[in-house]
Amino acid sequence: MTSLNYPGPLDDGVVGVRPWRDTDLACVEQASRDPDIPRGTTVPAQYTPEAGLAYIARQHARLTSGQGLSMAVVDHRTDEAVGHINLMLRPQPGVAGIGYWLVPAVRRRGIGSRAIALMTGWGIGQFARIEAWVEPHNVASQRVLELNGYLLEGRLRSFLTFGDRRADVLVYSRIATA
Ligand SMILES: CC(C)(COP(=O)(O)OP(=O)(O)OC[C@H]1O[C@@H](n2cnc3c(N)ncnc32)[C@H](O)[C@@H]1OP(=O)(O)O)[C@@H](O)C(=O)NCCC(=O)NCCS
Repeated sequence: MTSLNYPGPLDDGVVGVRPWRDTDLACVEQASRDPDIPRGTTVPAQYTPEAGLAYIARQHARLTSGQGLSMAVVDHRTDEAVGHINLMLRPQPGVAGIGYWLVPAVRRRGIGSRAIALMTGWGIGQFARIEAWVEPHNVASQRVLELNGYLLEGRLRSFLTFGDRRADVLVYSRIATA
């Protein structure tokens, strides 16, 4: 990948992926109330409009600092933000990590699978490999990856930290040549 930029419109007629906007604060507020999202992301655990706007600014800074792309998942019909999806550059050339969350109210409607399909479809033309790190108990996340052709490669023991807890992760990947 020579230069990092937001993709053009990603939309399958039901779900879209677009850059975050300052008007997406309601989505950040709902995410901050989820018991898990603030633990593994920079979504503020204590929501205020200022903290929400800072979160959105951080997502744009991922692009300007060359760390990766961090975008909103939206309802195609209303353009309302309902979640987040990112592709972050790993240290290895041509490798990106995918991450995602949805606000609890819209889960189990196929939106996560669709968003991952859109981001992967675009990203696999830009990167040789897209990988995901998932905690073993996170069945929903494993399922959406499997539905999108990601293969389980193995388990990294004591790989991530969440506060003072260390966690194993399962590694999934899609590669451009398969
Ligand atoms: C992971 C996540 C994005 C999945 O998105 P989603 O829109 O709810 O998932 P989908 O509706 O597309 O479901 C896809 C499949 O997973 C299954 N699934 C979804 N949630 C599930 C759950 N909690 N338990 C078991 N299976 C689940 C669905 O049944 C579906 O399978 P099917 O097609 O065989 O019926 C969402 O659960 C989420 O935001 N979780 C919290 C944040 C998180 O864990 N992020 C990933 C960190 S690695």
